[in-house]
Amino acid sequence: MQSVGVIGAGQMGAGIAQESAQAGYHVLLTDVSKERADAGKAGIGRQLARAVEKGKLDSEAMDAALARIETVDGVAAMGNCGLIVEAATEREEIKRAIFAEVGKVLGGSAILASNTSSIPITRLAQATPDPARFIGVHFFNPVPVMGLIEIIRGLATSDATVAAIETYAAALGKQVVRANDAPGFIVNRVLMPMLNEACFALGEGVATIRDIDLACQLGLNHPMGPLTLADFIGLDTCLEITRVLFEGTGDPKFRPAPLLIKYVEAGWYGRKTRRGFYDYSGEEPVPTR
Ligand code: CAA
Repeated sequence: MQSVGVIGAGQMGAGIAQESAQAGYHVLLTDVSKERADAGKAGIGRQLARAVEKGKLDSEAMDAALARIETVDGVAAMGNCGLIVEAATEREEIKRAIFAEVGKVLGGSAILASNTSSIPITRLAQATPDPARFIGVHFFNPVPVMGLIEIIRGLATSDATVAAIETYAAALGKQVVRANDAPGFIVNRVLMPMLNEACFALGEGVATIRDIDLACQLGLNHPMGPLTLADFIGLDTCLEITRVLFEGTGDPKFRPAPLLIKYVEAGWYGRKTRRGFYDYSGEEPVPTR
């Protein structure tokens, strides 16, 4: 597999493209427009330049990685890719529409993977050209920093597809865990109840935003407190995944916190809207409660 197609040049897609290029793959990067793909590549350029400034990467390696990333207008150019990774918006109808387009060009032995964090792989597979060559590859944000890929096999995913993704993950220097196709897979099954519980605690007046976050950061040695992490992931995404857990298991222990729902209804999604549990409009995030 020499070429990797990446669909979606947002935070996750750009990170996947960057890591793939640094691992030596030729990358075709696309988004809803060539401009968005170019913007994603420009962001990768800034990330790599920062690594060069810090002395973690030499400038030849940066230039070589950037030269391996080609932005393209749509998936039509991806016919020669051995692997296509979809990292588009987390909406099933959008992913299904993309898979229909991919179906027109996917090579005879190529693999299609989705970076979905919550949609069942077996169900998504029905929209793909060959469910045996479809698989979940769940990366974590920020992709260049996080050393894990969760591999999720659908009912029809073949052993050869799993093996090819394990080879790809090893080339990227990521550890792999294998999850069955259950709601939230492993990481979000464990993480989202914690973030949701932090929202319940805040809503019930147990403590302030600062104290809930500091308690977990220092008391549990987590790199970020749960409310900071929820803002970082996106409160809309956290709510979406929590709903998947709740509806997918039917277990009331996963019911979303009313405060989380309220924030999403207010359009306060976290960092990306500059307002979540913290206000991000100034130099430093400021707790809002
Ligand atoms: N891209 C690339 N590198 C980044 C980065 C980014 N977006 N953000 C930070 N980094 C790098 C920095 O350059 C720095 O590198 P060096 O150590 O080489 O200098 C390093 O990460 C540490 O960064 P900072 O010093 O700026 O800040 P920090 O120590 O607070 O770390 C963090 C930032 C890495 C984000 C850390 O707080 C962390 O690990 N947080 C938890 C992240 C997490 O849990 N992610 C998973 C979310 S769940 C998910 O993604 C899946 C899902 O389905 C929802």
